[in-house]
Amino acid sequence: MSAPRQPSPPPVLEAESVSRSYRLGASLVTAIQDVSLSVASGELIALKGPSGSGKTTLLNLMGLLDRPDAGVVRVGGVEAEGWTRTRARTCGATSSGLSFRASI
Ligand SMILES: Nc1ncnc2c1ncn2[C@@H]1O[C@H](COP(=O)(O)OP(=O)(O)OP(=O)(O)O)[C@@H](O)[C@H]1O
Ligand SMILES: [Mg+2]
Repeated sequence: MSAPRQPSPPPVLEAESVSRSYRLGASLVTAIQDVSLSVASGELIALKGPSGSGKTTLLNLMGLLDRPDAGVVRVGGVEAEGWTRTRARTCGATSSGLSFRASI
C-alpha cells in the first residue's frame, strides 16, 4: 500500500490578480493590472520586460514594500494585507530574496 500523499506546501510568495496605479498629476497611470505570480520553495525566477512594463512595481508589491490597489499578496500562504511594517520587513528578509537589477 502506498503512503498517503502529503498536501503540497503553499507557495513561498504569491501575487493573485494584483493591480497598481499611480496618480500623476491629473492622470492615473496603470503600472500593472490583474497580474498573478506564484513562487514555489527553492524556485528562482527572473522578471523580464520592456522599460515601464511594471517589473519594479510588481517586485515592490511582492517584497511588501508597497500595497496593491486590488488583489492579494500572500507569503507562505498567508495574506500579507494589514501586516505591520516590522513583520513585513522581517518576513521579507528571511523567507525570500528579491534582487533589484537594472540589467542582467
Ligand atoms: N511613482 C510613480 N509615479 C507615477 N508613475 C509611476 C511611478 N512608478 C512607476 N510609474 C509608472 O508605472 C509604469 C510601470 O513602471 P515600473 O517602474 O514598474 O516599470 P519597470 O518595468 O520597472 O521599468 P524599468 O525597466 O524602466 O525599470 C510606468 O508607466 C511608469 O512610468
Ligand atoms: Mg524597474
